[in-house]
Amino acid sequence: MSDTVVDESARAETDILRVSNLEKRFGGIVAVDGASFGIERGSLTGLIGPNGAGKSTTFNLITGVHRADAGRVIFQGEDVTGLGPQQLVGRGLVRTFQISRELSGMTVLENMLLAFQGQLGESLWRTVTPGVRGSLVEQERELLDRVWETLELFEIDHLAHEDAANLSGGQRKLLELSRALLTDPDMLLLDEPMAGVNPTLEKKLLDRIHELRSQGYTFLLVEHDMDVIMNNCETVIVMHQGQVLSQGTPEEIQGDERVIEAYLGGEV
Ligand SMILES: Nc1ncnc2c1ncn2[C@@H]1O[C@H](COP(=O)(O)OP(=O)(O)OP(=O)(O)O)[C@@H](O)[C@H]1O
Ligand SMILES: [Mg+2]
Repeated sequence: MSDTVVDESARAETDILRVSNLEKRFGGIVAVDGASFGIERGSLTGLIGPNGAGKSTTFNLITGVHRADAGRVIFQGEDVTGLGPQQLVGRGLVRTFQISRELSGMTVLENMLLAFQGQLGESLWRTVTPGVRGSLVEQERELLDRVWETLELFEIDHLAHEDAANLSGGQRKLLELSRALLTDPDMLLLDEPMAGVNPTLEKKLLDRIHELRSQGYTFLLVEHDMDVIMNNCETVIVMHQGQVLSQGTPEEIQGDERVIEAYLGGEV
């Protein structure tokens, strides 16, 4: 009995996120079918599996986009099951989407400011026009400086006043990740951040992820490119038909018969 308590608290300390027995049905489809796993704080973990395995739905359940039919989500030791996306962002859990959700008709800079939804006065919104900073209060000026620093970090600052609709697929992914970072997260869930990104940008994105990770951020990454997963993640979780098939190091996963079977049998 006391052993169990010790085990649980030890895990709670190293795992920033734990999900247990997550379930989600859409009509007759069981998209997520009792998925359980833990994510170690400060790790870069890959979540892989054939199309339709339930990866994006799992992200949606963790980040409160969809409500789970069953199961629990524990983040930083607290039960956050059923909380909405904004509440989770407030607790340090943020995600990016497989299909970028930047708003066209708004500039890159305005899209970035959406990260501060609810925290900003009208004045900042009025003064995103280049050169107009005079009427900003100190706190807003600091936020705006952070926005510019983040745009520079991802090398999209030259696009700040461009309509987000004019960005390339890769630039949109950078914008999404930049905006997610502005929310001061502890953990980022990235759903195929490299899809449609050219090799130069992909390398840049991976470098940034490693840099941020060394600063203490935790990443969970959905990605179909096996080289990216195997070369960058220290832990890999494999989903298949809504369930967790396997979890281990890249070497363990590559040698796992069940994983090989699921991929060869599936449509990868
Ligand atoms: N909003 C929804 N309504 C109905 N069915 C859905 C919905 N979202 C997902 N599904 C179904 O749930 C299953 C899991 O989908 P999900 O998008 O989670 O898979 P995935 O692993 O992210 O796949 P991919 O690699 O193609 O992105 C699929 O059968 C999908 O069609
Ligand atoms: Mg998906």
